[in-house]
Amino acid sequence: MADIQRTLVLIKPDGVQRELIGQVIGRFERKGLKLVGLKLLSLDETILADHYAHHIGKPFYDSLVKFMMETPVVAVVLEGNDVVNEVRKVVGSTNPREADAGTIRADFSMDVAGNIIHASDSPENAQIEISRFFNDGEVFSYNKLTDPYIFG
Ligand code: RTP
Ligand code: MG
Repeated sequence: MADIQRTLVLIKPDGVQRELIGQVIGRFERKGLKLVGLKLLSLDETILADHYAHHIGKPFYDSLVKFMMETPVVAVVLEGNDVVNEVRKVVGSTNPREADAGTIRADFSMDVAGNIIHASDSPENAQIEISRFFNDGEVFSYNKLTDPYIFG
């Protein structure tokens, strides 16, 4: 039974600096997920205080915010069956050195402070995060050959 969801991914400044945008998006495309939103945007302290509200006051918060403002980030909305969970599997654990081989974080990074990518951690947070970074008209609906309803 398909549970079609959407999730938010951010390719962080280290992914942009290291020219990994295409490879990261390519991993989601080859998995068969549908790209329904995509843009480059600069983050400021206000939006980051919302996005990382659960980390305010932690020792790494200030450096995390500074890092996230170093370059624009790539914001992506992906759609698919159980997509929040599927994307977290492709992304891997927060600490790249504990992430499973084959995941984006394990394959591309060595340090939690430069772990390439953010992905929503629940369907509820995904909805909040998508509306934080995208206006309604910037997220699209369309049919694609890999849609689950075509292949069952
Ligand atoms: P994300 O939200 O970015 O997908 O990562 P996550 O769920 O795997 O990890 P989370 O606990 O939400 O942490 C958000 C980001 O904060 C940075 N972090 N640094 N130095 C540290 O100990 C530390 N812990 C977390 C990472 O960039 C992490 O992705
Ligand atoms: Mg998180």
